[in-house]
Amino acid sequence: MTIRNLACVVGARPNFMKMAPLLRALAAYPRLRPVLIHTGQHYDENLSDVFFEDLGMKRPEICLEVGSGKHGEQTARILERVEAVLEQGPPGGGRYDRLIVVGDVNSTMAAALAATKLGIPIAHVEAGLRSFDRTMPEEINRIVTDAISDLLLVSEPAGLENLRREGHPESQLHLVGNVMIDTLLHLLPKAQARDTLARHGLRPGDYGVVTLHRPSNVDRPEVLGPLLDVLREASDDLRLVFPIHPRTRQRLQRFGLMDRLHGNGLAPMAPLGYLDFLALTSQARLIVTDSGGLQEESTALGVPCLTMRANTERPITVELGTSTLIGNDAEALQTRLREVLAGTYKRGERPALWDGRAAERIAAILDREAA
Ligand code: UD1
Repeated sequence: MTIRNLACVVGARPNFMKMAPLLRALAAYPRLRPVLIHTGQHYDENLSDVFFEDLGMKRPEICLEVGSGKHGEQTARILERVEAVLEQGPPGGGRYDRLIVVGDVNSTMAAALAATKLGIPIAHVEAGLRSFDRTMPEEINRIVTDAISDLLLVSEPAGLENLRREGHPESQLHLVGNVMIDTLLHLLPKAQARDTLARHGLRPGDYGVVTLHRPSNVDRPEVLGPLLDVLREASDDLRLVFPIHPRTRQRLQRFGLMDRLHGNGLAPMAPLGYLDFLALTSQARLIVTDSGGLQEESTALGVPCLTMRANTERPITVELGTSTLIGNDAEALQTRLREVLAGTYKRGERPALWDGRAAERIAAILDREAA
């Protein structure tokens, strides 16, 4: 039996829930040997450690501790350290036969760049998504990663169209579904069995969940300030809980906006682990967010999602799912919020192949190429 060594790289919060089901599915194939490498792009206990625990994911074999920095600095550090690890080969000896990366964070792109220069082929999970907005760092990460990957594992049909238009041959493309939803379906019962709502004084259907962390929303006081005002006003009608990403907290402090968070029904809190957060989102009346992953999760959960972005790389969540693009339009947010409360907001459907088995399909593809 020829062993295939797979370098599986994660770095930031949204990577962990995408890699976890894949590692579980790969365990069924003895000739596939994953090695988990954590770049350390996210290092806070509540952005990283708690996820390994909640997801039941093995601890990384290799940790690179790159930490935060400007995009160039962070990307360069990841590139340099991943290159060294890939050159060294897997802990048990031999060489890496493939790199597997997920999503669109800086760690995804930097690891892919390191691998391609060493001649290691790349599988990209969540390939082909495009917002067509190149001011988003994630859009550049997606384009670069896909351009140098030869196995493109796609979560929704638009991804296939984008990759075809960019010239990828059919043989590289696989519509496999959504690994993030694998994790959600797997852990939903466990999340809902927790006492999270009671701990926060909430009842099912009685509150909304807010998250904001995109540079386009939080990096300028003239955008962030009015957004907070809108949320505070909206929280007159529905209590809104707001776990705050460290990036957002830093900006709020720097811009002197912390006090704008208080009052009305807006409840700021520290970021939560996976299970507590899923307990909240799955029982919420609505979600207000600029997160890509949360647009998908709300669609899978059938919870209305008011997306504080002008565009999305995940169009199926708007076309078929429960998401509506609001941009940062205060009036649109109020209008949609009232629709949700009145029960007239659209229902949405769960997309095909978002069935909890995407990782199994990917593992089967990886095993076939080993044959
Ligand atoms: C990253 C991803 C983004 C993803 C998000 C989810 C990129 C370009 N962006 O954004 O796509 O949606 O993760 O969380 O890769 N910080 C901490 N503790 C940490 C990590 C970061 O305090 O553990 C703070 C630091 O001040 C840092 C800032 O957050 O400078 C931003 O971190 P960074 O990794 O650059 O990007 P995110 O905004 O987290």
